[in-house]
Amino acid sequence: MGDLTLGSFSTNGPWSVADQEPDWLRTVTIRRRHQAAMLPDLTRPALVPPLRRALTVVRVLGSALLAWRLKERGKPTSRAGLSYRVRRAAEVLGPTYIKLAQIISAGEGLFPAELVEECKKCRDQVPGVPFAEVRAAVERELGEPLETIFETFDREPIAAASIAQVHRARLRPRPGIAGGGKDVVVKVQRPGIDEVVRRDLKVLSWLAPFLVGRIPVSALANPPALVELFAETIIEELDFNLEAANMLDVGRVFAELGQRDFIVPRPHPQYVSRRILVMEELSGFNFNDVAGMKDAGVDTHAVLKTGMIGFLEGVFLHGIFHGDLHGGNLFIMEDGRTALMDFGITGRLNERERMAFLRMMMGATTNNVVTQVEALRDLGALPRDTDVQAVIADLGLDGPPLDPTTLDPDELVAELQRVVKALLGYGARMPKPLMLYVKNLIFIDGATATLAPELDLFTAITEVATHFATTHGATIAAQLGMADSEWKLDLDGVKAGIGGLDPAEHDSLTYAELRDRRELIRKRLGSKHLG
Ligand SMILES: Nc1ncnc2c1ncn2[C@@H]1O[C@H](COP(=O)(O)OP(=O)(O)O)[C@@H](O)[C@H]1O
Ligand SMILES: [Mg+2]
Repeated sequence: MGDLTLGSFSTNGPWSVADQEPDWLRTVTIRRRHQAAMLPDLTRPALVPPLRRALTVVRVLGSALLAWRLKERGKPTSRAGLSYRVRRAAEVLGPTYIKLAQIISAGEGLFPAELVEECKKCRDQVPGVPFAEVRAAVERELGEPLETIFETFDREPIAAASIAQVHRARLRPRPGIAGGGKDVVVKVQRPGIDEVVRRDLKVLSWLAPFLVGRIPVSALANPPALVELFAETIIEELDFNLEAANMLDVGRVFAELGQRDFIVPRPHPQYVSRRILVMEELSGFNFNDVAGMKDAGVDTHAVLKTGMIGFLEGVFLHGIFHGDLHGGNLFIMEDGRTALMDFGITGRLNERERMAFLRMMMGATTNNVVTQVEALRDLGALPRDTDVQAVIADLGLDGPPLDPTTLDPDELVAELQRVVKALLGYGARMPKPLMLYVKNLIFIDGATATLAPELDLFTAITEVATHFATTHGATIAAQLGMADSEWKLDLDGVKAGIGGLDPAEHDSLTYAELRDRRELIRKRLGSKHLG
């Protein structure tokens, strides 16, 4: 199509993004800056919140907590009961809270297992907006009657989520308009959703300070910081101009890396606005359809490996990555390539942050704790003036790691609580890029169970590290100001890092074994409350 040098797009696209500079692209920088500037206003705790909404939230959450206190508190089902009630409350409260639950649902290991399981139920489809409203939204945003723009437009959405829904359509051939007669998908933002989200953020910001120290979940230990993080993430999703620009940026990064195993849909050069995004339609196997992939001869191992490498290269070499990897946001194509969708949340690192990420990876692969903690500090996870040596000594990071599978459960819980308390004491918080990175890693980790359960993790880590060393070693070393030869993968260190495996006894570790190990740790922690 002539635009494949500009991005890793499909081979025969419905139009070329090289033909004209899209109008919508011109305002993107200003829009992004404007958003960043508005953020503090959105999350500053007001003396008085939007009253009606605050009352609703307090009433719904309050009755959930009350019911839990009366019925389950102190019983073995306590945590499951609380998780269920919180999830139901989120559904009653609507899109913002459903979104929050969806984020929690991707946090396996970060949040209690019961809560994660409950929140997964919020991934289900929600009822779509009636077609009349969809039509009105399209016509308002694009300025022409629906039938003028589209030859066909499916009344039923193919997907409806909390913020947007997606319809299949065909563009009408017209002079001067790209992609006439081609099939597209149209992402339509729910009418009025930005007002709802803004109001909800104000209520959450008002509520958060009251929750400090009151939530019995360590990962939720700093509610105001979490509300800020959440606001930063959800606000970005409300402007489709930014999403379309993200598609071009992520596609360009893949092209520059020579990474053609990922396909990004082309945004339409003309039909993109704040609330409407027309783009190329992609298709393939659903992520869970491993049987279908295998029948088509897709090498699922290779899919996983390129997935991992493509993601990490984007992070470490360009500082741009898809920030919301999960099964619903990708297809595996017949030829084994991965079609990515949904660029509402995209990780963007500035140079300072990207260098910190590089040092973090370097520290992890060479088992250097000081480098890792310094990198976390430089990312903003710890205050600038943090005494890194003191943190390491405090947390006992300088000694051999404890083996969580042999430790007495009480000791283990006490140890975890101590670490979390200490971190909060230092003023630790989760910077957005780090959160997106960790969330994606958690997805890729889970994807291993689906695509390659018999994969040996040590081989995989070595392969990925070797790929980086051979393909990008010189570049990375130069950027970090170190000699190429100083960078050696410390596999023993990595093994020790995976819950205290003795390197002498373990030559290999399959994903299934790792999962059993985690299950054991989880069971040991199971009866305990993390506070
Ligand atoms: N370019 C596309 N081609 C085909 N299907 C798409 C495309 N973009 C989105 N979809 C479908 O619509 C669903 C929702 O789109 P997505 O962008 O993920 O919205 P949301 O931000 O609400 O999650 C996707 O899971 C996918 O099934
Ligand atoms: Mg999605």
